[in-house]
This record gives sequence, C-alpha cells and structure tokens, in this order.
Amino acid sequence: MSHPTRVTLVEVGPRDGLQNESAPVSAADKIELVRRLAAAGLKEIEAASFVSPKWVPQMATSAEVMAGVPRGNGVRYSALAPNMKGLQGVLEAKADEVVVFASASEAFSRRNINCSIEESIERFAPVVQGALEAGLKVRGAVSCAVGCPFQGEVAPGEVERVVVALKAIGVQHMGIADTIGVGTPLRVRAALERALAHYPLHQVSGHFHDTYGQALANILASLELGVHVFDASVAGLGGCPYAPGATGNVATEDVVYMLHGMGIDTGVDLDALIEAGQWICERIGREPASRVSRAKAASRRVAGRAG
Ligand code: HMG
Ligand code: MG
Repeated sequence: MSHPTRVTLVEVGPRDGLQNESAPVSAADKIELVRRLAAAGLKEIEAASFVSPKWVPQMATSAEVMAGVPRGNGVRYSALAPNMKGLQGVLEAKADEVVVFASASEAFSRRNINCSIEESIERFAPVVQGALEAGLKVRGAVSCAVGCPFQGEVAPGEVERVVVALKAIGVQHMGIADTIGVGTPLRVRAALERALAHYPLHQVSGHFHDTYGQALANILASLELGVHVFDASVAGLGGCPYAPGATGNVATEDVVYMLHGMGIDTGVDLDALIEAGQWICERIGREPASRVSRAKAASRRVAGRAG
C-alpha cells in the first residue's frame, strides 16, 4: 500500500479546540498557544472565527488574537466566516484564508448557523467572492459528512450535493468533516470520494473529530486514497458547541506520531508540540486528550523515578 510521503497538518486547536471551552480563555493565552504551535513547525493554523459572539462567546476575542499572532514566519492563518460580517472581520484581521462552513445535514445547518443548507450557500456566495477578490484562499468545510447528532446517518450523496454547491460558488478547497466523530474508515472514504469527484487530491482534506476513537483509522484510510491534508487539534481540544456530546478533533500529537512512525514527513517537532499541548491544558485546567502526550508524560515520570 503506498502512502503520501508528506502530509500538511492544519492546526485547528486555537479555533475548533478552544471554541468549545465554556470558561473564557484570554486572548494573551490564545496568542501564546499560536506562538508555540508555530514554533513547533505548524505552518497552517486556524486561529480565529468571526462568528456571532452571542452564539460562540469564546471566539469574541478573534480580532485581538489575530492582531497578536506572530507573522512573517511562513505561517498561514485561517479564520471562519459565516456571513459578510464575518468576512469583514477576517479581512480586517489580515488572515490568509477564510473558511466557510456548510453542513450535509439540514438539521445541523439550522442549529449551527440558523439557516437551511440552501440559504447557507446563498449567504456564502458573496463571502467567497469578496474573499477571492481580496486575494484570500477559500476553504469550505462540510460538517456532518457521515453522521449528524440530530438526523443520524448521512449518505455520501448528501455530502456531494453540498460539495457541488460550494464548488459552484468558487470554494477552492473542500474539507470533509466528521463533526461528531462517528465515522469509520470505509464510510469516511466514501464521503471523501464524493469530494474527490469534484476537487483535485491536494484540494481535499479530512477533519475528523475523535469522539468514537476512530479518527486515526480514518486518517489512515484517507491516506490510502492519497489524501494528504488533515485538520487536527493540539491536545485533542474541543468539539462543536452545536454538536452535543462531540469531543475534540483528533489530537495533533497523535497524528504526528503515527505519520512519523510511517516515515511520513510533517515538518512538526513532536516534543515541542507536546509541550504546547501540555501548556494550554495547564492554562485551562484539563488533561491533554492526546494519548501520545499522556504516554510521554508517564514515561518521563518513570524515568524521573529511576534517575
Ligand atoms: P443569526 O442570529 O441568525 O444572525 O445567527 P443575525 O444575522 O440575525 O444576527 C444576530 C446578531 O449576531 C446580530 O447582533 C448580528 O450583528 C450578530 P445584534 O443586532 O443582535 O446585536 N452577528 C455577528 N456578530 C459578529 N460576527 C458575525 C456576526 N453575524 C451576525 N459574523 C449566525 C447566524 C451565522 C451569525 C450564527 O448562527 C453564528 O454565528 N453561528 C456560528 C456557529 C459556530 O461558530 N459554530 C462552530 C463553528 S462550525 C464548526 O465547529 C464545524 C467545523 O469545525 C467542521 C466540523 O467539525 O464539522 C468547521
Ligand atoms: Mg470541527
């Protein structure tokens, strides 16, 4: 079985990870997290989300965060925008990429962005156009690509319908998202194949939450299709405030460990990444969900006792 020799990781911890924290995380801590992630070698960081602060209060500091992140270091920053007001925030923040997020499930679309799938595409059209005119890259995310917390199973055809609609309005890259982490390898592959029918390989990525512990298996199955761009969240932070019960994205540390173990280059320094994850977890009073981070911490404790 051949696999890509290099994988691009999009670190979504500062956005997808922290958006779900109920206690406010200061902008200074978010900026420091981004600084540490960049120093660990991550070149694509989703750092902000210009959504309604009434809907996701944790992201209200996005402008401040974007004003403080390190620049000129080869890192590309992306940020979410659900409408034109969001695009305005993204442009003012000088992000490199805007993310528009649609859903393959009607029920989730209504809960997450308060409109139908069709209305969301209409709303995104001027956002995409404005972003492209401003020279930004536009990434699309299709949530609930295998399952929905309100509707249950989602068929590949429903994913393809949204992929086609997003492509028609000019979205350049298609992220297939298992929002609630229910996907298993063959189902995730079936969803990705619907995106690959319309986008070239390098413009398709996987965004897998790890609720059911399937995310690494799903990444491996995606690699076997040749997909080589994945979102991941440091320390496995996060979830979606509008997807009850969903846990965070696959932990970046675990993905890096697996890929390096397979001889696949990521450009990421695993030790520095683990330290970044442990640092933010201390700040927010959590244990890292990353198995690799926990295993390394345990082996350090054992080594400490032996020494
Ligand atoms: P709405 O209530 O229908 O919007 O929400 P509205 O246009 O009626 O506006 C309501 C209020 O929000 C107004 O303020 C607007 O100005 C304000 P008021 O007049 O009441 O004071 N507002 C905004 N403020 C700041 N920035 C904005 C903005 N837009 C309106 N951009 C809306 C519709 C889309 C705004 C809302 O539903 C929303 O913000 N939803 C975001 C939900 C969200 O962020 N979910 C998590 C991210 S998606 C995700 O995690 C999935 C992903 O990871 C992939 C996966 O795993 O599936 C990407
Ligand atoms: Mg997500």
